[in-house]
Amino acid sequence: MPLVSMRQLLDEAAKGGYGVGAFNVNDMEQIQAIMMAAKETKSPVIVQASRGARQFAEDLYLFKLIQAAAELNPEIPIAMHQDHGNSFETCKSAILLGYTSVMMDGSLKEDGKTPSTFDENVEVTKKVVDYAHERGVTVEGEIGVLGGVEDGHGAGGSGLDHITDPDQAVEFAERTGVDALAIAIGTSHGAYKFTKKPDGSVLKMDVLMAIHKRLPNTHLVMHGSSSVPKDLQDVINQYGGKLKETWGVPVEEIQLGIRNGVRKINVDTDNRLAITGAIRKVLWETPEKFDPRDYMKPAREAMKKVVALRMTQFGQAGHAGDYSPIAITEIAKGYKDGSLTTRPLVAAK
Ligand code: G3H
Ligand code: 13P
Ligand code: ZN
Repeated sequence: MPLVSMRQLLDEAAKGGYGVGAFNVNDMEQIQAIMMAAKETKSPVIVQASRGARQFAEDLYLFKLIQAAAELNPEIPIAMHQDHGNSFETCKSAILLGYTSVMMDGSLKEDGKTPSTFDENVEVTKKVVDYAHERGVTVEGEIGVLGGVEDGHGAGGSGLDHITDPDQAVEFAERTGVDALAIAIGTSHGAYKFTKKPDGSVLKMDVLMAIHKRLPNTHLVMHGSSSVPKDLQDVINQYGGKLKETWGVPVEEIQLGIRNGVRKINVDTDNRLAITGAIRKVLWETPEKFDPRDYMKPAREAMKKVVALRMTQFGQAGHAGDYSPIAITEIAKGYKDGSLTTRPLVAAK
């Protein structure tokens, strides 16, 4: 099956009341792990690449691998998404490659570090929306700023520094026409999100619910949504790693989010932990081994297990065959004639 519009994936998820995991990839084994999990659980899936991933793997290698995944798994709807695009040019280059979805993260300036103003964010996001929708490509925007820094991307600081203001979320969605809206509710990228199991003082599910109340039909996106499970931390530390004690976003909080409008859930760190733990174990227990397949195979399997579990927990499992993909050219027509509305329904305060 050709790559699918992320908008269609999320619209279907809203109809079905489930969430869809968006998993980061940098190489063939990660793509294979996701596809193995999607096949096993019969899940539609969002595969995403950061700017760092596109640079690491080289655009063409990565994109051809995704095309291979689509060709080899015709029964699985796959959306290919640019994660944290920092500029119009980054998003445009992804669209020209064939990505079916882009995130314009205008919450930060082009340097990917400095928080931008509201008007700057609206301006660049709207420009991407106009360009993308003309080509049938989905756009995710971000309002509010996440905590932490990954691969040089991020404002740093705590997740509580720039929590999304619900009024601004409404205005942003109305002025930009984004298909999906990432909000900041206290999470951060990476392994070090919380120093203890998060409660409402650090993980602002009340803010998420307030935004969903005002924008009941807008697909919300949770970034920084790895759960950083203790068992994955333990494997790394058992085999020579040095992770400090840390907590992620509990799955039950994500499930609460899904009941309140969250349709896309970004997960990278949990997979990184699973891969690293599996590789460390092989190298620690059998130091004589040097064939990369001896540790890449268990690493791929470990990531597959995490992804399959999340697919089941987010509710996307079993939904791969629910619908037929709409061609991107048809999606473009829908944006043009207004049948695929991007004007959000706004509820009174
Ligand atoms: O945005 C965060 C993702 O985990 C991607 O991270 O920029 O290190 O590839 P990265
Ligand atoms: P984690 O670091 O929590 O996996 O978040 C990934 C993410 O938000 C990618 O955009
Ligand atoms: Zn993110």
